[in-house]
Formats: sequence, C-alpha cells, structure tokens
Amino acid sequence: MSSVSKSTPHWWQRAVVYQVYPRSFQDTTGNGVGDLEGVIRRLDYLVALGVDAIWISPFYPSPMADFGYDVADYCDVDPLFGDLATFDRLIDTAHHLHLKVIIDWVPNHTSDQHPWFIESRAGRDNPRRDWYIWRPPAADGGTPNNWGSFFGGPAWTYDPRTREYYLHQFVKEQPELNWRNPEVRAAMMDTLRFWMRRGVDGFRMDVIHLIIKDAALRDNPPDPNAPADLPANDLHQRQLHTYTEDQDEVQEVIREIRSVLDEFPDRCGIGELWGPLDRWVRYYGEHGEGLHLPFNFRLMDGMVWDARQMRASVDALEAALPPFAWPNYVLGNHDRMRLVTRFGGHAQARVAAMMLLTLRGTPTLYYGDEIGMADVPIPPDRVQDPQGLNLGVERTRDGCRTPMQWDGSPNSGFCPPSVEPWLPLATDHRERNVATQAEDPTSLLTLYRRLLALRRATPALVGGGYRPVDEAPNDCFAYWRNHNEQRLLVALNFSDAPREIASPGLAAARVILSTYLDREGPLSGAVLALRPNEGVIVAV
Ligand code: NOJ
Repeated sequence: MSSVSKSTPHWWQRAVVYQVYPRSFQDTTGNGVGDLEGVIRRLDYLVALGVDAIWISPFYPSPMADFGYDVADYCDVDPLFGDLATFDRLIDTAHHLHLKVIIDWVPNHTSDQHPWFIESRAGRDNPRRDWYIWRPPAADGGTPNNWGSFFGGPAWTYDPRTREYYLHQFVKEQPELNWRNPEVRAAMMDTLRFWMRRGVDGFRMDVIHLIIKDAALRDNPPDPNAPADLPANDLHQRQLHTYTEDQDEVQEVIREIRSVLDEFPDRCGIGELWGPLDRWVRYYGEHGEGLHLPFNFRLMDGMVWDARQMRASVDALEAALPPFAWPNYVLGNHDRMRLVTRFGGHAQARVAAMMLLTLRGTPTLYYGDEIGMADVPIPPDRVQDPQGLNLGVERTRDGCRTPMQWDGSPNSGFCPPSVEPWLPLATDHRERNVATQAEDPTSLLTLYRRLLALRRATPALVGGGYRPVDEAPNDCFAYWRNHNEQRLLVALNFSDAPREIASPGLAAARVILSTYLDREGPLSGAVLALRPNEGVIVAV
C-alpha cells in the first residue's frame, strides 16, 4: 500500500490538479460543445501554465440529463466528445507531456438508459432487479420513505409497469445502484480496472459518501436549521441526511475500491464527499488504506472572504489529519459559484490564488479561474442544468460552466464564430481571455504561472510544514512553510487597506513574489508592509 512518504512524495502529493469541464473547454467539431480532441489541443496550454494533472469531468455515453453524471456505459466515450481512440490519444499525449490524467467515476447512480437499469426495470424477477434500489409503495401508495432529491422533489419515482418505486437522489434519470449487492460491486470495480489498463492515473469519485444508504431506509429527520425561503419542492434541504449519507458501512467499500486501485502502480483515488471533519477524515482509512485525497471543500463551501475564518479552517484541518493523511484544497468546481464572484472580485482572486497554491497539500484548480472568469448570468430561457430547471434559475450551476475564454474572437476561440455555444459566453470575454493575459506581465494568468513555477521549484511549498503566524493582523492570514534550511513566509492581506506584519524572523528576508507582480527584493527591517489586497511570499 502506498502511504505518504516525507522523502519521496507521490505524484498526487506534488501535483497541482486542473479540472477540465470538457463541454466547455474547446470545441473542435463545430457544434458548440467542447470535446476530447479539444482537450488534446489545449494540453500545451496546460503545460505552459504549469499544472501537473488534469481531471476531466464525465465524457461517458450519456443522455445528458445531468450533463454526463448520468452514465449509460462506464467503458466508452460519448460520440459528442469523441471515441475511445481519441481518449487513448489524449492519455498518450498527456503522458508524453508529463501530465497525469484523472477521470470522473460516477458510482452512486447510472443513467436510466444504462442497460443494467433497462433490465432491472423490465420485471421484478429480472436478474438485475436487485442491482438498483426498488421498494413497494407505502401503505397509502406514496413513496417508500421521505427522502428528497438534491434536484427537487422526492428521491423516489414510481414505475407503473412493475408497481414499485426506485431510488434516485438526483434526477429521476439517475437511478441509484445497490452497492450492497456483490455483483454490482464486482461490475463497478471492473470499470476502474478498464480505465487503469488504458493508463488512467486516478479517479475523482462522484458523491462517494452516498453509495451506501441505511439498510432499513429509515426516514430522514427534518433539519431544524433549514432556510425558511426554500422552494416548495426542495425536500432535500429541509431534512438532515442521517440515513442517506456517510453510513458507517461505506468505509468497507472504500477499502475495497482502494485495494483495486492498488492492483496498479501509483494510482490515486479522490473522493467527492462532505461531512464534519471527524467523519470526513475517516475516508483516508484508519492507516491510510482509504482514499488518497477526500476532497476538502472547506475553503469554498460556506466560506466568506475572511482571513480569520480561512485560518481557522486550515488550522482545524491540519489538527484533524493523522500523520499519514495528505491535505488538499479546492476553491472552485463545476457545482459552485466562481471564486471571483464568491470572494468579491479580482483583487481577492489574486490573493486566493496565492493561498491555494501555497498551503500544504494538493490544490485543485478549476478551468478559467486562472484568468479570473466570473459567474455568467444565465437568461432563464438558456438554463440547462437540471438543478436550475427544477429549483429556480438562481440555483442553476450553468453560470460557472460557461465556455473557456481563449481569445478576443466572437466565440472566444471556444467554437466557430457562426455557432452558438451550448452556454452563453461572459460579456467580458473580448478583454478577459488567455491570449490577452498571456502577453500581460501583470495579469492573473501570469500570476498563476509564476506561482506554479515557484511551487514546482520550491521544496518548502510542497513538502514543508505549515505554521500560522499569530502576530498577523486579524484581517491577514500568514503562515510559514519551512523545509530543511528553506524558510518561506506567505502573507495574505484580505483587507482593502495597507497592513504590516512585524516579526523578528523577518530580518534579512526578501520578497520573492507579490500578487501585484511588481516587487522582489530585500525587506527594510523586520517589518513586512502589505498593500491593500496584496499577498507576498517572503524567503528568509
Ligand atoms: C456531484 C457532481 O459534481 C454534480 O455535478 C452532479 O450533478 C452530482 N454529483 C450527481 O452526479
């Protein structure tokens, strides 16, 4: 079993991961939707940016009821995105460029068009009936229990042909697999092997904490703190998820998944999951026999732009991790408001970039964040996301999934000018794009490149410890990253006013990078002066 080693970190400990949402990255067929060939063509950009691994959101054959998170075949590519030969070329090209490839794996549910479900719904005595979660109606004919769907309405849909309900915690086109059935487990483990044999380096495992539900399917209790203004059909947020999430028995399945990953050298398992720290940390396993990286969303979900809260979150994480567990941080993904929008603007985004790329642990970047793409307001008639369609336009996730802004041409180089992209482009795409920022020595893109290059060249930023600086003002977050002889201070000013950090340790220190990209060199005295919304890295 691979565990964290201080002297030779694994690739997934050194790496910076970049999430590609393939529908929105690069269209090469002229249909307004990105594809795998587009990812291949943009790999050089990612190498120049300086990331080490890409995570590609689902490209499996899918009716796209949830844009690929409804999988109709775990071992193929949807024609919209290409084919297996294109995928193989993607892997080869990426590996040639020393990039690792992580793919999405969606174990909790399939598409209702997956052959397994088509068989399962064909009859109560079908051999695959028990591959999904079917239950007879309650005594009054209603749903078997009170569980709600994340996307609105009940988590159960009635199938008149066989007169039973099936479970789906997302849209009804995403029936949930029965992971208590050993045949399901075996079939799903084989899908991991299928992709590892093709050279895939790791998996991002969709809602992995959901795959086991309460054996008795008990009702979830109401959430006493549920917001009062929820849409009427949002049953899910009105309840606690006591019996639908993070059941103890899931740990045994995680161990089994890990042992399958370990059949192949140096693969990595990343889990999408939530929960309080003491529950979340269990997904690493008791001795590191669980996931390599359970995603840590704590600097994103529910977090405001506040230095004390950020520090408190990092300190709590560091304290909760057993020695074998490697931290990781996420500030954006295809389900959440863009970080520029969430944290207040582009000045904050620069400081956030420095924080994400200098904390101890593996960072995951979301495509477009490196040029400061903001959430795009989606006109109601262009909403695509089922969450937005069912729960209201303000809940749509489309705003963070808009096409990548490559250049100043009419469709920003994402798709031909004559074609309508599947989601609208940001109105600022003519100014805010890769081509413009690549030429600008002070752009956010340049800052990301400098940070990534520095991180790669600086052992303290990868393998160093984390020690917060208590003397920092309340609206600054500062920490040491020390490794052997190397001593680095990262100081982040979260405020719109100048701030100072004084520390005897800063005598003879020099600035090696500022988020303003305009200064380097020795400090005068043992005081570090920070301009409004400035982050700096100082070497001692
Ligand atoms: C989490 C994914 O990130 C999200 O996009 C998807 O809708 C749900 N899981 C269901 O697969």
